[in-house]
Amino acid sequence: MNALTTISIGIVGAAGRGGSFRSAFEANGARITAVCDLRKDKLDECRRTLGAAEAYTDYLEMLDKAPIDAVVIGTPMQLHVPQSIEALTRGKHVLCEVPAAVSIDECRELVSAAAASKAIYMMAENYTYIKSNVFVRALAAAGLFGTVYYAEGEYLHELKELNEVTKWRRHWQTGIPGVTYCTHSLGPILQWMPGDRVTRVCCEDTTFRYRDRRDEPYGQTTPVMLCKTAKGALIKIRVDMLSNRPHAMTNYQLQGSDGCYESARGGPGDVHKICLRELDHEMHWHDLDAVMQTVFGQLLDAAWRTPPEEAKRAGHGGGDYFEVLDFLSAVRGETPCRIGIHDAMDMTLPGLVSQQSATQDGAWLNVPDSRQWLQNPPRRQLHMLWPERLRDTPPVPRVADGYELRQLADGEEDAYIALVKKADLASFTREQVEGIKRSVLPGGLFVIAHRATGALVATSIAQHRATELHPHGGEVGWIAADPEHKGKGLGLAVTAAATARFIAAGYRRIYLSTDDFRLPAIAVYLKLGFEPLMYAPDMADRWAAVRAQLSR
Ligand SMILES: NC(=O)c1ccc[n+]([C@@H]2O[C@H](COP(=O)([O-])OP(=O)(O)OC[C@H]3O[C@@H](n4cnc5c(N)ncnc54)[C@H](O)[C@@H]3O)[C@@H](O)[C@H]2O)c1
Repeated sequence: MNALTTISIGIVGAAGRGGSFRSAFEANGARITAVCDLRKDKLDECRRTLGAAEAYTDYLEMLDKAPIDAVVIGTPMQLHVPQSIEALTRGKHVLCEVPAAVSIDECRELVSAAAASKAIYMMAENYTYIKSNVFVRALAAAGLFGTVYYAEGEYLHELKELNEVTKWRRHWQTGIPGVTYCTHSLGPILQWMPGDRVTRVCCEDTTFRYRDRRDEPYGQTTPVMLCKTAKGALIKIRVDMLSNRPHAMTNYQLQGSDGCYESARGGPGDVHKICLRELDHEMHWHDLDAVMQTVFGQLLDAAWRTPPEEAKRAGHGGGDYFEVLDFLSAVRGETPCRIGIHDAMDMTLPGLVSQQSATQDGAWLNVPDSRQWLQNPPRRQLHMLWPERLRDTPPVPRVADGYELRQLADGEEDAYIALVKKADLASFTREQVEGIKRSVLPGGLFVIAHRATGALVATSIAQHRATELHPHGGEVGWIAADPEHKGKGLGLAVTAAATARFIAAGYRRIYLSTDDFRLPAIAVYLKLGFEPLMYAPDMADRWAAVRAQLSR
């Protein structure tokens, strides 16, 4: 993709935050081609406002049908990872709102999807594009603060009413403990400490609690996270979305051996202040904006010194313009991505670990380094094939008395999600389940229900899934059984049902994949007739080990 190519963008969550990017994209040689939002009532207005030709209510449909190179993800936090992964696996570049993820498991999935994709992943941490923060970054990069050893960031944004409108906030931003929404505070600070990252955090909160309209206590009030970095610096982050007080989302402090910075805290007459030994040896405060007009201002990129008109018109004091510019330059291969996957993890993971610390009396906990996740790539899975000799012999599912084998019905999605989680197989979102429902063969999403309670207790799917290893293959997938109904042959029955479905559809390559440690499941597959596929040099040893354990 070269500088002259117009990059086509799809925006999901277009009726919310995603709706604010038009001028920034158009000014930088891109156009918004498609918008997507669940809000049908707002969709046409969004399409017109953003200048898009196409509008969708279904995100996957937009990814598959719209002529787009990249997506902006502006949906609620819990959708960021599933929607980023869907785009990355289709080779679409991603500019995703903050935070990157809502759990550490999600972070792992996202990192692995970004590593496997040729597409760019960038987290849209726009507070790193606030002009004062960009200038402090330039001063720090020039070494003017000396050794930086302390910083503070605060995001104080009272949103009790907004909670009731954008209900996802009630859980993710004010329901759970910890500082999940920490990137606006931590992001700029980490950029002031290049080459450093947070390795340990602890987090505590006051015991005072506000109550919502339903008289339910919020899960947090004013959590404070302390971070220790690899180079020994200390960072204090406070995220408070509930306290009755004026907003102050951009409070920062930085302390180094040769200078310090304090942002305006919003009080009357308050300004951003800086003190640098280079400026005066007496170490007095100076107005940051005034310093920007001196020779020190030359440290800013030319575009920041004299921003184009389009930048002045873009949101967040021009920050949106520069954020989009960086994203598009990375997509065009002109510059490295400024907030790529590991930067996004460095800004997001401390807050996710802080959730755990806040529920463990403020214990200091280690923060994983996402770069290391890629050094030990996940072990290849075991694969098994339905043998040629049985390809016209469909196995017969035998269902124990008291159980019923049938298809998943509409409205049972949450029960399905709960079953798959209980079987320790995966944590699906509703969106992922909708994706599964769309991708299985007709009549290929099997469940077994317990007649007495109506509970779903086992499941499997028959899904067309051609891979390099299995061209034209059909995968018997997502086989799960409720451990409380063990010993009833339920896993065997659902595996047989999905296998028989493929045989009825004429499939010649029917496979399943599993992990070495899932011994009870492997025993079921072997019993039914599946055979190990020795597709890699380590398979013979691994299967020998599996068989040895099964025979004990
Ligand atoms: N960087 C910033 O300054 C900033 C500011 C506000 C919000 N945010 C982030 O942006 C995101 C959105 O926040 P918001 O305030 O706009 O929330 P919102 O709830 O007002 O808007 C989200 C939009 O996404 C749509 N949506 C939800 N699920 C969808 C789906 N599956 N498919 C398509 N559309 C779907 C909703 O209908 C809604 O219009 C959040 O992650 C938030 O943290 C960032």
